Amino acid sequence: MIIAIDGPAASGKGTLGKRLAHHYGYRHLDTGVIYRAVAKALLDAGVDLADEARAVAAALELDPEKFGDPVLKTQEIGNAASVISAIPRVREALVNFQRQFAADPPGAVLDGRDIGTVICPDADVKIFVVADPKVRAHRRTMEALARGESADEALVLADILRRDERDRNRPVAPLRPAPDAHVLDNSSLDIEGGVRAAIAIVETVRAGR
Ligand code: DC
Repeated sequence: MIIAIDGPAASGKGTLGKRLAHHYGYRHLDTGVIYRAVAKALLDAGVDLADEARAVAAALELDPEKFGDPVLKTQEIGNAASVISAIPRVREALVNFQRQFAADPPGAVLDGRDIGTVICPDADVKIFVVADPKVRAHRRTMEALARGESADEALVLADILRRDERDRNRPVAPLRPAPDAHVLDNSSLDIEGGVRAAIAIVETVRAGR
């Protein structure tokens, strides 16, 4: 079974994906990390983020061993990832990696922006996670503070709104729910509540098959 989880920045889709994968014994891929890893490779090399050829090369040379690097989670890398993820050839270069991950047994949970629409349009279950931008900004700020970084909630909110706008309006793979996605609003749910709601969606879909 393939479970696709999409949603905007800081919606909690990553944590949800990880927890769902654990619950079902599936593998989990946070696809945002892939875009972040490409962005980091360019920043490290001092390359302009608009350099398409270098960005595509970085996308084809991805090293999954580096996906756990905590620096990938920073806002600076997130913003750079948002920029390079708007380049069609970069997205194309990353499709096979994601589809291969999804296809390997026993099953997989992939979370991102376009899993249900582009990467795995035939996913068994599609969940689109949303939450009030203010709630997301608050969560992101708390996470940053917990990592020991300084964070101003108003700036984080402005950043989230800007990123939403860019992700939603880009011409390639814009952020939007697949027609057959189940929308999960977790604004007033804690992590456990969100996980329970997602499992309920998966079970409902399974029962209906
Ligand atoms: O979910 P995130 O904040 O880690 O994602 C970082 C950026 O990568 C985000 O601004 C958009 C992009 N992204 C994407 O375009 N497609 C995905 N499947 C995942 C992330």
